[in-house]
Amino acid sequence: MTTPRPGAAPAPQAGAAYDAIARSYQRTRHSPVRRHIEAFTLWQLLGDVTGEAVLDAGCGDGWYARGLRARGARRVVAFDLSGAMLDLAREAEARDPSGAEYRQHDAAALPVLGAFDTVLAAYLLHYAPSVTDLAAMAAGLAANLRPGGRLVALVENPDPVPDALSRYAPYGFSREVTALTDGAPIHYALVAGRELVRFDTRYYGRGTYAAALQAAGFTNVGWHGLSLDPGCGDEADPDWFAGYVEQPPVVALTAVRAGRVPA
Ligand SMILES: C[S@@+](CC[C@H](N)C(=O)[O-])C[C@H]1O[C@@H](n2cnc3c(N)ncnc32)[C@H](O)[C@@H]1O
Repeated sequence: MTTPRPGAAPAPQAGAAYDAIARSYQRTRHSPVRRHIEAFTLWQLLGDVTGEAVLDAGCGDGWYARGLRARGARRVVAFDLSGAMLDLAREAEARDPSGAEYRQHDAAALPVLGAFDTVLAAYLLHYAPSVTDLAAMAAGLAANLRPGGRLVALVENPDPVPDALSRYAPYGFSREVTALTDGAPIHYALVAGRELVRFDTRYYGRGTYAAALQAAGFTNVGWHGLSLDPGCGDEADPDWFAGYVEQPPVVALTAVRAGRVPA
């Protein structure tokens, strides 16, 4: 089965887009790059979360939200725009309760849910349909952090990746950046179980992300490459993964909420 492409302006409909592909997308969780590169990189950046209050923004099926609780986070609030993704999160929570709380919100119109120590935003900011929406998302995330709290995000790699359409075929997906201009669509098609799942994200430059975060009151904006878990054993041959880690489709972005937010 092939899921339909969610349209030319996907980000305003991102919740609906994920409603249509929720269960298929969830299957990508088992992919080696997600387990041994994405998750390893994020957990390394998150570090020790013991006792922290964490907001998981764009939580999807709640895999990280539950993992944060398992790693000792005191409180985890997880939100997503997609009701179907939240259904999957709540199903998993019912099967194996972690104590994570799930809410439905649009990151671009986020109320204050708390003064969190950490916000995790894995694959969220690049769904902003415009620079204005990106700024609104950054402001909403900042408003939910205590002064000194940190943001850990995964976003589309702002650097050009040569031959990207076929570069990622060995890893089960294609990625087509239509232009290196802010808001330009990035088309994905990825193999999820026996299905081909399509969705679009948006390109933003490094300076655009930094400006949105700084305007929202973040400092210490930092970029980080991806790392392969050295403990993943035979399942992930480092040579095979080198092409992914060296030219990654996404990169990590961290920032710290300043003590005072600009008026
Ligand atoms: C690629 S999935 C990642 C899910 C999860 N963070 C993970 O890493 O497994 C992107 C998620 O962002 C959500 N999303 C997209 N735009 C959003 C918005 N404006 N507000 C909240 N969630 C949004 C989608 O519904 C989807 O669940």
